[in-house]
Amino acid sequence: MRKDHLRPLFRETKLDLNDLIMPIFVDETISKPKEISSMPGYYRIPVENVAEEVGKAMELGLKAFILFGIPSYKDDIGSSAFISNGVIQRAIRLIRQEYPDAVIVTDVCLCEYTTHGHCGVVKDGKILNDETLPILGKVAVSHAEAGADIVAPSGMMDGMVKAIREALDSSGFEDVAIMSYSAKYASSFYGPFREAAESGYKFGDRRSYQMDIHNGDEALREVELDLKEGADIVMVKPALAYLDIVRRVKEKFGVPTAAYNVSGEYSMVKAAAMNGWLDEKSIVYEILVSIKRAGADLIITYHAKDFAKWFNEGSL
Ligand code: PBG
Repeated sequence: MRKDHLRPLFRETKLDLNDLIMPIFVDETISKPKEISSMPGYYRIPVENVAEEVGKAMELGLKAFILFGIPSYKDDIGSSAFISNGVIQRAIRLIRQEYPDAVIVTDVCLCEYTTHGHCGVVKDGKILNDETLPILGKVAVSHAEAGADIVAPSGMMDGMVKAIREALDSSGFEDVAIMSYSAKYASSFYGPFREAAESGYKFGDRRSYQMDIHNGDEALREVELDLKEGADIVMVKPALAYLDIVRRVKEKFGVPTAAYNVSGEYSMVKAAAMNGWLDEKSIVYEILVSIKRAGADLIITYHAKDFAKWFNEGSL
């Protein structure tokens, strides 16, 4: 290990562009890309520009994208999430037309589409789990009809994977995969995302459906349930403060495991880099390697494009 040119031979963890999924915020209410102030360097993209955005990333070697929508219309039950000309449905079709090989993942949740901003249907201040399930099934089917490859339910409703699997199968979409946000913690690291996706809630918080940060065993139970219900990929979210969970999930189940390097994790790095306090390139590399070393097969990250540039330059 004392010679530079020997060390690469003994690397246990390898990172490449196939490991990454790039998030895209598609906004139906704007006509020019708009920077998200709490996520420097990250933009909301108008529907009309989404294929171009994917094209640029594919030129860098990225292959997979997860889409979040900002609709022009919200109501109580989030009905703009499942209409055939909704923001995500239009975006998928535009991408598919130009880039048939792009891997299109879609976030399946209601919080961006409901006036109250919660991930489920609400009555008297309570989230109604079971009433939400058929709506999530409809959202997933509408994404599949538009051409999505993988749907990713992120609302942490009990039974959501089963409801979505059944809805997809009965509509002839047996080959659409499910990546479940299985172990999603009620985390303050999502702060910047809520500005990015306009998905902040109007009352209460998400602790009745997202996980308690103090719990680890519970994450394994959540993952087990999702696998039984038919999840193809399970996810741990956020990533960095939960690498122990990534490792335990991977060790116990050995299934395709994703980790979501979330908005707050991105913003911390950006803020420090902009102040000259940290070297962005080496920090991002170290972070992504550590998530893979913990056991993740896939990483959803806002650093995807920057990483791809550095990777291609051979400067990592
Ligand atoms: C929506 C959703 C959230 C994120 C992904 N999907 C926010 C939330 O649950 O409040 C967070 C992503 C990020 O912070 O980067 N259910």
